[in-house]
Amino acid sequence: MREGHNGYCPSPGITPAREAIAAEYNGRGWPVSPDRVLVTAGTSEAIDLALSALLDEHGEVLVPMPTYPLYTAVVAKLGARAVFYRTDPSAGWLPDLDHLARVLTPATRAIVVIDPNNPTGATYPVATRKALLSFADKHGLAILADEVYGDIAYEGSVAPLGSLDVAALKKLADGRLCSTVPMQFGIKAALEGDRAHQAAFRAALRERAAVTTRALQKMPGVSLVAPTAAFYAMPKVELPPGKTDEDYVLGLLRATGILCVHGSGFGTSPADGYLRIVFLAAPKELQDIYAEMSVFTAQFLQR
Ligand SMILES: Cc1ncc(COP(=O)(O)O)c(C=O)c1O
Repeated sequence: MREGHNGYCPSPGITPAREAIAAEYNGRGWPVSPDRVLVTAGTSEAIDLALSALLDEHGEVLVPMPTYPLYTAVVAKLGARAVFYRTDPSAGWLPDLDHLARVLTPATRAIVVIDPNNPTGATYPVATRKALLSFADKHGLAILADEVYGDIAYEGSVAPLGSLDVAALKKLADGRLCSTVPMQFGIKAALEGDRAHQAAFRAALRERAAVTTRALQKMPGVSLVAPTAAFYAMPKVELPPGKTDEDYVLGLLRATGILCVHGSGFGTSPADGYLRIVFLAAPKELQDIYAEMSVFTAQFLQR
């Protein structure tokens, strides 16, 4: 900012940032040239541009369920249709490939793959990723690979997956000025600088995930698929008849001040009893939180 980089730049982004991003992907085994890189204001704007490029009012996009709600919001804004494909808690929240094939229609234009996943904390094995790629290839679908948590998978970074029609996206990117310029000057430094902090962050997350998994798996009436990335967990509470996930979440909030998000906020059925936890607090604090949650859950389930 002191060097005066405070104005606008070309809409796709500044050259050093695009070059650093391309180099990063090349280093991860996905060859991409800088002219195919667009710098956006967060993943959110990229999602908006990509869906706008791909969908008209008759278009459909396959979106995982549970889902990250921004996708459904953008699809709704475009007047298009989000079609949900199941991810299966009994199979580590992996995409249900049979269900995926059943919900495909001639109007399907794209598939959203969120790996590592919010809200479930799942990462997909190579076989699943290859199956998704060949499914998309077979049916001529663009893949929106949301890899926002790619570097915080506990077993190491997740390799990049897909590619898009960047020409259409470029037109859309030209329809706004540019992503904030001073921040773009941070990209090269961030990608080429020391990343030792990432290992420390991953280790800290892994510890919190372990505390979360241990506490929730032993809580009566609660089950959890252990998260493998990021800072999300999606446990299931066996709700008493007539109760919803929102009843549980609001009850917990009122009784303890602990806030989770009800699974139906991510598209699961309210009676299924899913909730999403963000486990960024310190491990000791998490232990105290889960102890309180356990007491509340026992009372809730008795009602
Ligand atoms: C799966 C997923 N995609 C995209 C985003 C939005 O990312 P950004 O902050 O870069 O817009 C989030 C934020 O929570 C997310 O969880």
